[in-house]
Formats: sequence, C-alpha cells, structure tokens
Amino acid sequence: MRRFITLILFLCCISYSICDKCNVPPEFWCSSPEIAAKCEVTRQCQSYFSTQLRQADMVNFTLYFESNCPDCKNFFRSQLSPNYEKLSGIMNLTLVPYGNAREQKSGSGKWKFTCQHGKEECIGNLIETCAIHLMKNISSYFPFISCIENDQFAEPQDSAEKCAKKLGVDFKSIKECTNSDLGNKLEHEMAVRTDALSPPHKYVPWVTLNGVHTEDIEQQAEKDLVKLICGAYKGSDKPAICGEIKTTRRCYRY
Ligand SMILES: *[C@@H]1O[C@H](CO)[C@@H](O)[C@H](O)[C@H]1NC(C)=O
Ligand SMILES: *[C@@H]1O[C@H](CO)[C@@H](O)[C@H](O)[C@H]1NC(C)=O
Ligand SMILES: *[C@@H]1O[C@H](CO)[C@@H](O)[C@H](O)[C@H]1NC(C)=O
Repeated sequence: MRRFITLILFLCCISYSICDKCNVPPEFWCSSPEIAAKCEVTRQCQSYFSTQLRQADMVNFTLYFESNCPDCKNFFRSQLSPNYEKLSGIMNLTLVPYGNAREQKSGSGKWKFTCQHGKEECIGNLIETCAIHLMKNISSYFPFISCIENDQFAEPQDSAEKCAKKLGVDFKSIKECTNSDLGNKLEHEMAVRTDALSPPHKYVPWVTLNGVHTEDIEQQAEKDLVKLICGAYKGSDKPAICGEIKTTRRCYRY
C-alpha cells in the first residue's frame, strides 16, 4: 500500500511538476534528468543516463552498381538482401543502378547508354531506376530490386517480369517508364550521381558510408555489412541483429 501511494505521488510529480523539492523515493531519483536535478544527484545519475537508449542519425549507405554484374549480384545475395530488413531502422540505403555504364547525348537530345554487360544490362538499370522513381518508398522497391539481383541466370528484364508477378508490382507502369523520356532522364540522373563520386569509382559494387568511400569500408561492406553498419551507428538503440554473434561453419567434435 505504501509503495502504491509513493508510486501515485511520483506519477503526479512527473506529469504535473507539482513538486519542486526532492520528494520522491531514492529508487526514482535517476528516472529523469529533471528529478535528478531536484534531488541534486545529476552527477551520480550520469552513468545511468548514458546507458539509456539513445537514438542517433541513420547511417547513410549508398550502393553504386549495375544490374547484370556478377559481383554486384553477389553483394546483394551475400550481404544486402539477407540483412536489409533487419538493418532498415538504422541504415538509410540508397541504390544507384548505373555502375560502369557510359552515356552520350544523341541528336534528339535523349541520352544513349552503353553498358558493360550489354544492352540487357542497360534495360535492367532502367527498370530498377524507374521502380525507384515509381514506387518511392525503399521498403517497397527494395524487395523488387533485390529479387532481380538474386536471380542468377536470367537476363534482368526476364527476372524483373518474374519478380513483379511474384511481389505484386505493377510491371506495366515500369515498362512504360523505361520507354519514356522520363525514364531516359531518370537514368541520366543516376549517371550524374555516379560520375560525381569523389574519388571516382574504379569498380562496382562501389559503396559509400556517410558519403565516404575507402578501400577499407568497401572490404568491410563486402565481408560483413551488419558489422559495418552496426559499428557506424552512434545510437544505443541498436536493432537485435547488431548483437547476434556470427559463427562461421564449423565441424564440431563428437
Ligand atoms: C545522413 O544524411 C542525412 C541527410 O544528408 C544527414 O542529416 C544525416 O546526419 C546523415 N547521417 C549520418 C550518420 O551522418
Ligand atoms: C537518406 O539519404 C538521402 C540521400 O541519399 C538523403 O537525401 C536523406 O535525407 C537521407 N535520410 C535520412 C533519414 O538520413
Ligand atoms: C515506407 O513504408 C514503410 C512501411 O510501409 C513505412 O513504415 C515508412 O514510414 C514509409 N516511409 C516513407 C518515407 O514514406
């Protein structure tokens, strides 16, 4: 009963600030910075506050890639696709499908793209670029692009059609976009973003972490994306995946 009354008093205290003095029991002294100040224990509560959950800015992670490159597909398959959802609370992922392509302005004012893995790759880049534009929210278009990139053997366009059907994506609108001036302009924007990289990219997949690319960041991303993102996140409200212990495959004794 006494505990109950103290609890009520404490709740009134914090909701209405009716108490200017430290009239809450000691177990509540660290419950807020205001109460700690009133009870003159701010310094003593400091370490307790610092262990409380603290949000921080999301880690910006950008992937520059091209739709039909085996190493990009491998990066999706081994790092991004299995972990994207679990990291999505702390990772602001941006996808830039263009990679090692080249562009040239044609007579009609439209851009003409040449891709490392042929025409099919250009179509794949365009499909993904249009999907990003039309579907807007990455939690909607990531599964679609991830599905295309996880298809090992088909050309991007065939994968895209299959993936759209599987995920209920409106492929007709995407296809229309790829054949339009808008699609051409959107792909040009991907080219501009890729060509603005500093240092310029030398290969794909090429990643930036909070806008920065180094060989070390690249290697960490390719080896263990979860560790890289969890380590770069400054908040203490890390998602469960950050605490999971990775074990490699082992033959245990018997
Ligand atoms: C990510 O980018 C946004 C927008 O530019 C910025 O506000 C934020 O601070 C960045 N996050 C980190 C961890 O740098
Ligand atoms: C995510 O990154 C984009 C740039 O790629 C930026 O414009 C946006 O502000 C960022 N959002 C957050 C929440 O950091
Ligand atoms: C994107 O979709 C998710 C899940 O539907 C939602 O939680 C989030 O707020 C959306 N983000 C934006 C920027 O609309």
